[in-house]
Amino acid sequence: MSASPSDAQPVVHAIHENPDWFGPSADAFRERGIPYREWLLTDGGAVDLDEPPPPGVYWSRFSASSHTRGHALAKEHTRAVLAWAAAAGRRVVNGRSALEAEVSKVVQLATLRRHGLEVPRTTAVVGTADLLAAARGLVARTGGPFLTKHNQGGKGLGVARFDDVGAFAAALAAGDVPTPVDGVTLLQEYVPPADGTITRVELVAGELVYAIRADTVHGGFQLCPADACALDPLTGAPLLPPGAQLAPVPGQSLFSLDAEFGTRPGEDALLAGYRAVLAELGVEIAGVEHLRAADGRVLTYDVNTNTNYNAEVEAVAPRSGPGAIADHLGALLRAEVARSAVGHAGVAPPAGR
Ligand SMILES: Nc1ncnc2c1ncn2[C@@H]1O[C@H](COP(=O)(O)OP(=O)(O)O)[C@@H](O)[C@H]1O
Ligand SMILES: [Mg+2]
Repeated sequence: MSASPSDAQPVVHAIHENPDWFGPSADAFRERGIPYREWLLTDGGAVDLDEPPPPGVYWSRFSASSHTRGHALAKEHTRAVLAWAAAAGRRVVNGRSALEAEVSKVVQLATLRRHGLEVPRTTAVVGTADLLAAARGLVARTGGPFLTKHNQGGKGLGVARFDDVGAFAAALAAGDVPTPVDGVTLLQEYVPPADGTITRVELVAGELVYAIRADTVHGGFQLCPADACALDPLTGAPLLPPGAQLAPVPGQSLFSLDAEFGTRPGEDALLAGYRAVLAELGVEIAGVEHLRAADGRVLTYDVNTNTNYNAEVEAVAPRSGPGAIADHLGALLRAEVARSAVGHAGVAPPAGR
C-alpha cells in the first residue's frame, strides 16, 4: 500500500491488485492533473481502524479473478478498506456492494432479471454433490448444450461447453471440472451469438462511454487480446482458445468499436435497464456483456465492475474509457475538496458525510 494515513491532501485512492491493468488509468489521471494514490492490495497488510482513512475519494477496481494472480487475500483486504472508508463518510466509487456483485454472477443474474432483462437460463450449484442432477434438470428445460461457469469468475474462468449430460458426467468423473474459489458453479444454457460476436457496454456514472464488439468465433470464451493468446510451442501459431471455432489470426484484433450502439431499436431500453441494475448494485463503473440469439432475443450474462481497456478500440473511440473514469473521479474529488474547505470554515458538512 503506498498511502500514508498521515497525508492530509485529498486524493483519488485507487484500490486494486493488478498493476498490469493500471497503466491507462495512471495516464488518464496524470494527463488531467488529478492527484491519485495507488493502494495495491495483493498480499495482505494492516488496516488501522483506530485511525481515520486518508481524505479523498476511494475507487475500487477489485477484480473477481484476483485469486488467479495469487492474490487470494485481496478480496478480504479490499472489503476491509472499503468498509473503513465508507464508515468514515468517505466518498467511495464501486464500494462494497459493487464488490459483492463483482464476485457473484448469481447476484448479477438475479438483479438483471429483476429489472426485466433477459438472461440465459441458469442453475447455481453450491458444492459438487448436486452438479449432475442440476445439469439433468437444466437440459430437461432447455433441450440444448450448456456451459459451466464460476460464480466468482472473470477471464472465462471455468467456462466450458457441454453438449449433453453424458459428456458432463464423463468430465466430472475425470476430474476435468475445476472447483470454483467460492465453491459455486453455474450451469447455464449455451446460446450461440447469431453473428458470432458479443457486445460489452461500458458505462461510467450512468453514461454510455462506448460499446465493444468481441469476436467469439476466433476468441472463444476467454477473449484474450490477440498478442496474449496462447501459441503452439512447435509452430508458433496461435492455439484455438477454449470455445473458439477458428484460431485467432495474428495481427487481426478480436475487438472493435460498435459506434452505433444506443441508436438501434431496443438499445435505449437495454441501456435504461443496465442503468437501473447498476444503480441497485451500487456500481458506478461497469462493462455489461450481452449477446443476440438467432431468434433476436438479447441475453445479458455478465456485469463487470472494471472497464476492459483495449488499445485498438480506444484509438478510434469518440471518448476514452479510462478518461471518462478519471473525469468522474476528478469531479468527485473537487467536490470533496470544496466540501472540506466549507467544513474547515466552520459550516457543518451534510449529515453522514
Ligand atoms: N450463455 C452463454 N451462451 C453462449 N456464450 C456465452 C454464454 N455466457 C458466456 N458466453 C461466452 O463466454 C464468455 C465468458 O463468459 P462470462 O459469463 O462473461 O464469464 P467471465 O466473467 O469469465 O467473463 C463470454 O464473453 C461469451 O463469449
Ligand atoms: Mg465476461
